[in-house]
Amino acid sequence: MVDYVLDVSQKDIYKNLNDVNISHTMKKQILWMFTALFFINASGQKFEQLAKRPPMGWNSWNKFGCNVSEKLIMQMADAMVSSGMKDAGYEYIVIDDCWQVDRDKNGEIVEDKDRFPHGMKYLVDYVHSKGLKFGIYSCAGSRTCMERPGGLGHEFQDARTYARWEVDYLKYDWCNTSTQDAKSSYITMRDALFTAGRPIVFSLCEWGTAKPWEWAKEVGHLWRTTEDIVDRWDAMIAILDQEKDLAKYAGPGFWNDPDMLEVGNGGMTVEEYKTHFSLWCMLAAPLIAGNDLGTMSTETAEILTNKELIFLDQDSTGKQGFCYRDNGDYEIWIKKLANKEKAACLLNRSDEEKTVLVDFNLLLKANDDYWSSEQYQLENYRVRDLWEHKEVKLDKNTLLIKIPPHSVKVYRFINKSNPIQ
Ligand code: GLA
Repeated sequence: MVDYVLDVSQKDIYKNLNDVNISHTMKKQILWMFTALFFINASGQKFEQLAKRPPMGWNSWNKFGCNVSEKLIMQMADAMVSSGMKDAGYEYIVIDDCWQVDRDKNGEIVEDKDRFPHGMKYLVDYVHSKGLKFGIYSCAGSRTCMERPGGLGHEFQDARTYARWEVDYLKYDWCNTSTQDAKSSYITMRDALFTAGRPIVFSLCEWGTAKPWEWAKEVGHLWRTTEDIVDRWDAMIAILDQEKDLAKYAGPGFWNDPDMLEVGNGGMTVEEYKTHFSLWCMLAAPLIAGNDLGTMSTETAEILTNKELIFLDQDSTGKQGFCYRDNGDYEIWIKKLANKEKAACLLNRSDEEKTVLVDFNLLLKANDDYWSSEQYQLENYRVRDLWEHKEVKLDKNTLLIKIPPHSVKVYRFINKSNPIQ
């Protein structure tokens, strides 16, 4: 009923009401009611123009846990610029749990003064001065996962504080929430952020328990789909498996979040990290690095700043890739891109090298069941290998390709008639 009213103009309402035999006073009362409902509804919304592409940045948790400080965050902001990460598109520096220690007598959140001697606003200003954006962490429950003060009951107050500090991104966790309802809790924080008036990307960290992909499009800009990632091949692949049915829920401004990257943290091989990064790009996942940017190896930097892969992730259509073929050890993932382009990722999940006969014509035509089938002709495309950084020479449609264990091949079908290549 209310949604319908939002869709029609005031004039339409009058017209509809004229069809009904009611008094003028009653018409006026009904109009007032509709108008009031419109404004109540208008205040209950997220900031729409944010995160039209999957957010890219860095977060302290995966590498540093509770060991966060002003010094560390400043170093990471510096390294984000000097390492080329900023140039590759990374922009948010997000401080995770443990920056907060208490609430003062007015209920205001208090930073750990030993670790953040100049206070949070100083740090935000520093990050901004580097041309980057600042993200902060809190929790929908009474306490955070590390038992620091949570946001419950302080949502509007905290949102005003974040706005005053000029925060750009909020990750909102789900620990210590007792019997709270997930959707209502996140809506409260969404409304608090909107009321505070500063556009802040709202990242729901509910771990997928209440299926946020079914309701969070109107609430936040990204939502965690699973429990925490662990820096191990099997844990990373287990997350991938949980994304298989979720492609249709994501799009510009509302993303599935399979959790932050572990690239460079030491628990996987370089080849496995390439796979991890490729898959997250195919999933149009938020690319939030979780390693020490100050000491990363050249190999790690090359993975995180592979612009040809990032291009897939950041594609303007915001289509999440889907698993086109699941042959157990060997999977084919397809991502549709703007300008009738496509990307294909061939994944060898097994412990042995695989040799596969790849039919590029079939790969290009690969579709899932909810996209309309369109005509794709291989002769209209160039095929590019996004890790080799070179074009694939195709004398015929098929090629025998060797894929090492736990590795991927990622191809982009570049439309020859696309002016921007
Ligand atoms: C939860 C989240 C993690 C991290 C920690 C911090 O486990 O899922 O990403 O934020 O809390 O305590």
